[in-house]
Amino acid sequence: MTQMNTRVLLARRPAEHLVAADFEVDTQPLGTIEEGQFLIQNTYLSMDAGFRQWMNEGSGDNYLASMPLGEPVQSIIMGRIIESRHSGYPVGSTVMGRTSWEQYSIDDGTDFMAILDLDPDVEPYEYLASLGPSGMTAYFGLMDIGAPKSGDIFVINAAAGGIGSLAGQMAKAEGCTTVGIAGGPAKCAWLKDTLGYDHVIDYKSGESLDDQLLALAPEGADIMFDNVGGPMLGTMLGHLAENARVVLCGAVSQYEREGGHESVANMWELITKRAKAEGFMFSDYVDRYPEALDYITAMLKADALVSPVHISQGIESSGQAFIDMLDGNSTGKCLVKL
Ligand SMILES: NC(=O)c1ccc[n+]([C@@H]2O[C@H](COP(=O)([O-])OP(=O)(O)OC[C@H]3O[C@@H](n4cnc5c(N)ncnc54)[C@H](OP(=O)(O)O)[C@@H]3O)[C@@H](O)[C@H]2O)c1
Repeated sequence: MTQMNTRVLLARRPAEHLVAADFEVDTQPLGTIEEGQFLIQNTYLSMDAGFRQWMNEGSGDNYLASMPLGEPVQSIIMGRIIESRHSGYPVGSTVMGRTSWEQYSIDDGTDFMAILDLDPDVEPYEYLASLGPSGMTAYFGLMDIGAPKSGDIFVINAAAGGIGSLAGQMAKAEGCTTVGIAGGPAKCAWLKDTLGYDHVIDYKSGESLDDQLLALAPEGADIMFDNVGGPMLGTMLGHLAENARVVLCGAVSQYEREGGHESVANMWELITKRAKAEGFMFSDYVDRYPEALDYITAMLKADALVSPVHISQGIESSGQAFIDMLDGNSTGKCLVKL
């Protein structure tokens, strides 16, 4: 019997706000692997906000190409190799890599693909969450660029999302006073009660972000971890302490804008505050993943890290799961289980 493969395609270029009709579920016979390739049965898909950028027309850059229309949506996945003609990727291995929203992926291991060494005491999905790209991004953004010291004031936006929920707890473990910015009172209460943030700011409350930052960090923040970009980053730059570090991790407020990203206010503050702002991609740190994995695994095993995940079920749910993640309808790391 022919094995079928259900995929979710990018059906059209999204207008400013992504909607379910931008995606299309499609089932095709599964192709056969060639020499040098292997077949992965995907078990989890990772919903990563950054991929929204590459759904736009002409969005290709030095990191990824613009996603082609009519093809499965690019994604980081986790799965098990069930057939192989590649000596480096044997049958039975569990892998994490970049393929797409589909039940089965054929790959050759030349791009972002790694065999995972699973710890039996850790839930497998953690390798797409705290021990996966979100954990690596949180860890290297905080440790390498944020360079936390005990007593630092750490401020992060999208604090209840996949990266924010982990980075805040790590900063707290490093002795920082943590301030999480998120949308809505329920999320803000959750940040404090479940994740242990010291202070929270509800940017949707109607109160000015400027006033709230001034009240919580009158001397300014030592680390600003930015996932949002645009006007929110501009406001945050107006609240830097001397020698602050600004971690430029993402710009989720900008990915849906037509006409490109907005410029950012208060750049002058970087000069007068002798601050440093630095961008990074988690994949730059592949050689140092073991260091992050040791740190995060130790926190998980000591029950010192809450790793919140929101899991949707089935390949057909991928489009809505991604929209819900962008809209902030879920908390923690969003995954789809196949
Ligand atoms: N540099 C890297 O290597 C790297 C790697 C992965 C991800 N990233 C970046 O990290 C950021 C977070 O990614 P993620 O996958 O973990 O997503 P996420 O934080 O789980 O989800 C996105 C969150 O952004 C918030 N948000 C959306 N639109 C916003 C707006 N206009 N203003 C303020 N907040 C907004 C929403 O939370 P609220 O309910 O609080 O609004 C939503 O929950 C993204 O910018 C992504 O591109 C960077």
